[in-house]
Amino acid sequence: MTDTWDAWISRLERDHSLLEPNRLRQRIEVLDRLESHPTWGAGRGGGADPRLSTELHDRMGLLCADLEAANQRVYASIREAIQQGNGAQSLLEWAAAVGPVDDVRHRVDSEGYDGLDALLSGVLQIEEPSPEAQLAAEMVFYQPTPARHIFELIVRTGLSEHDVLFDLGSGLGHVPLLAAICTRARCVGIEWEAAYVDCARRCAKALNLANVTFARQDARAADLSSGTVFYLYTPFTGAMLGDVLAMLRREAAAREIRIGTLGPCTANFAREPWLEYAGMPNSSGLAVFRSVDLRV
Ligand SMILES: C[S@@+](CC[C@H](N)C(=O)[O-])C[C@H]1O[C@@H](n2cnc3c(N)ncnc32)[C@H](O)[C@@H]1O
Repeated sequence: MTDTWDAWISRLERDHSLLEPNRLRQRIEVLDRLESHPTWGAGRGGGADPRLSTELHDRMGLLCADLEAANQRVYASIREAIQQGNGAQSLLEWAAAVGPVDDVRHRVDSEGYDGLDALLSGVLQIEEPSPEAQLAAEMVFYQPTPARHIFELIVRTGLSEHDVLFDLGSGLGHVPLLAAICTRARCVGIEWEAAYVDCARRCAKALNLANVTFARQDARAADLSSGTVFYLYTPFTGAMLGDVLAMLRREAAAREIRIGTLGPCTANFAREPWLEYAGMPNSSGLAVFRSVDLRV
């Protein structure tokens, strides 16, 4: 096994083109495989791996550092484009290079993460803080939406400058931040955990994003009256979800709204008579609904 890793590392060390910017996808794959080494991840964190020679361990460390530095240069260039207001083109081009979002081979399951998540995390540069707030029984803990679903949400809802997107239970803000970079929609994150809201706001400020805001709030207390598109990655369950469904239904009585859902809460939305699927549901896991006209 050590020999196999040794041969692979040697091959990578000789391949200098791997550090060229446009080989981002390959670098992400290599870093991913290095992280999957049975004890390499633990070795990086401290304890030496007895099954790895010190020499191979050190070479893996150097290779990893070189690849990460090359990726950081790409992420810095995308961040600069975003700060100058040209982020959509830059980010979408890199996203296409890293993992075409319509490439079904990369859709392992609806919750698996892939190279697009490495790209998004490199661009947003958000360090996840320890949560401070107590979650009530029906509140679901933080887990980010895989980036490919966010791209899909943007495309399938046709998000545009005429829209106001609300992410109810926005966590670290990946969905509103990415939507604000890629579109001219106004994007709003509503999140219970103050530490997450602070991080999301700092990220928006660092990227000069004027079209995204975050509120530290219980979604049940939010004013949803400006929203045209709502997104929920199962942020809560039970009566809490029922309350928010009732709020959304009231909004739908005033105007057509679209709703994107991911995870188990999709079943609750699918049962609502005032909602219909917008386009055929597909196997990706993301569902998009639109409200029927409740004024007739
Ligand atoms: C599964 S995560 C989804 C995060 C984010 N929407 C995303 O897709 O990346 C659910 C989030 O909802 C938040 N949450 C749970 N109950 C909430 C409530 N009543 N009001 C606002 N946020 C809530 C949690 O703190 C958590 O960050």
